[in-house]
Amino acid sequence: MDKDIKLVIAGNWKMNKTVAEGLDLVQGLKRELANVKEVDIVVCPPFTSLSEISKEIMHSSIRLGAQNMSEHHYGAYTGEVAAGMLKEFLVRYVILGHSERRQFQKESDELVSKKAIAAHAAQIKPIVCVGETLEEREAGNTEKIVERQLKGSLAGITSEQMEETIVAYEPVWAIGTGKTASPEQAQEVHAFIRKKLTFMFSETVAKRVRIQYGGSVKPQNARELMGQADVDGALVGGASLEIRSFSDIIKNSI
Ligand code: PGA
Repeated sequence: MDKDIKLVIAGNWKMNKTVAEGLDLVQGLKRELANVKEVDIVVCPPFTSLSEISKEIMHSSIRLGAQNMSEHHYGAYTGEVAAGMLKEFLVRYVILGHSERRQFQKESDELVSKKAIAAHAAQIKPIVCVGETLEEREAGNTEKIVERQLKGSLAGITSEQMEETIVAYEPVWAIGTGKTASPEQAQEVHAFIRKKLTFMFSETVAKRVRIQYGGSVKPQNARELMGQADVDGALVGGASLEIRSFSDIIKNSI
């Protein structure tokens, strides 16, 4: 696939996989994807597996991501994990503001922006998630919602940092439901996101930001989705939990 930007495909394991199961998965991915140079490949295991997975992928082309982090650097925040702690395991990416955290942990755009700033301070690339619910789409509010999330979640990010930030467009109605946005629906919102980033930062920055699509990405729909002009990668949930489906998504995207 001929694109100016390198695709980035990340597996969001969510609350799945013990250490042993996670190691099996990445060992398989290393075998299957040893020769893939065209895509940045990322796995995002739960915190408890970061240490072991980090060692396992050390000399491979697979990079490590986390699923969340604190906006604080250290201190009395029970149950939280700071960017500097992730850095110890060579974590390079962190998913922020996933719709599940927005929904279940009530994370706000303001909090997501604080986390994004803290991630950059530790040289970790944030993957900032945005996306509308079915209700919001049906009410014709997709652009309004996505714009509000972008402005709020990226507040305080410099242009330089923005180039190292990934935006993931994940329509909530497509996550874990088997309902994928059509390639045209995805492209429409991705183009809108890039236009907004042009206004918020600059055209040069907007062109360099990678915008992932997420929501029921599978081997069967990956090629067409990645073929869209403004789709620069994928954030994959369910299909990232198996060697075959995750590696086929990557191979089909090249
Ligand atoms: P899904 O999840 O691929 O299982 O729909 C995507 C995500 O939540 O990142």
